[in-house]
Amino acid sequence: MNILITAGPTREPIDPVRFLTNRSSGKMGYAIAHGLIHAGHNVLLISGPTELDVPDYVDFVQVETAAEMHAAVSHHLGKMDIAIFVAAVADYTPAVVETHKIKKTGDRLTLELVRTPDILGSARSALGFQGTLVGFAAETENLEANAREKLTKKGCDLVIANDVSHTDIGFDSDHNEVLLVYPDHTDSLPSAPKTELGATLADLILDLHRAKTSD
Ligand code: C5P
Repeated sequence: MNILITAGPTREPIDPVRFLTNRSSGKMGYAIAHGLIHAGHNVLLISGPTELDVPDYVDFVQVETAAEMHAAVSHHLGKMDIAIFVAAVADYTPAVVETHKIKKTGDRLTLELVRTPDILGSARSALGFQGTLVGFAAETENLEANAREKLTKKGCDLVIANDVSHTDIGFDSDHNEVLLVYPDHTDSLPSAPKTELGATLADLILDLHRAKTSD
C-alpha cells in the first residue's frame, strides 16, 4: 500500500533570521512511519524540520513552511491509499516576509499574520482524496468534542486526539496517550512510549483501511 504521512512542525519565516514555529518534535509521525515500514508498506514522509533521523526505507520530502507542505501533499496525494496528517502545521504565517532583519525601534512591534492552507481540510474537497484519511488533534480542552468536530468537518475516517495541556505526554515528549475518535464511537489507548504507540497506530490504521475497502 502507498501511505503518505505528514510530520513535525512547520517553520514560517518572519525575516532572514527569524521564524514562527511550535513544539512538535515529529516523534509521533516518525514512529507511525516506522510501524508502517515494518509492516511492509511504501511510506512517503513529508516532514517539517526535526532533529530525528530519516527512517530507513521511507521516501522523504523535507519542507519548511505550511505552503511547502501543502504543495508536496497536493503533488503526491493522488497516488496514495492512506493519508495520515500528523504534522503540527502553523495556522498563521506572516503576511510579509521582510527581506532584511527587522531592527529594534519602538517599544512595540505588530506582526500581521494570515491563514495558511488547511492541508487536511483540503484533502477530501479540493484534492478529491478518496482513500483512508486520518487526522490528529492536539487540544488543551474539550478533547473529544473538538476531535469529533474535526472528524466531521474534514471528512476523516479517524481522528487521533491528544491532550497537550499535560507536559509529560504529547508535544515534545517521548510518551503519548490518545483518544481514537471514529464516526460511530470513541476508544482510548493508555499512555505508552511513542515508538510503541507508533506500531499500534500503524496496525490500527491498516485494519481501518482494510475494513473500509472491504465494504
Ligand atoms: O492544528 P489542528 O489541531 O487543527 O490540526 C488538526 C489536523 O489538521 C492535524 O492532523 C494536522 O496535521 C492537520 N492540519 C493540516 N493543515 C493545517 C492545520 C492542521 O493538515 N493548516
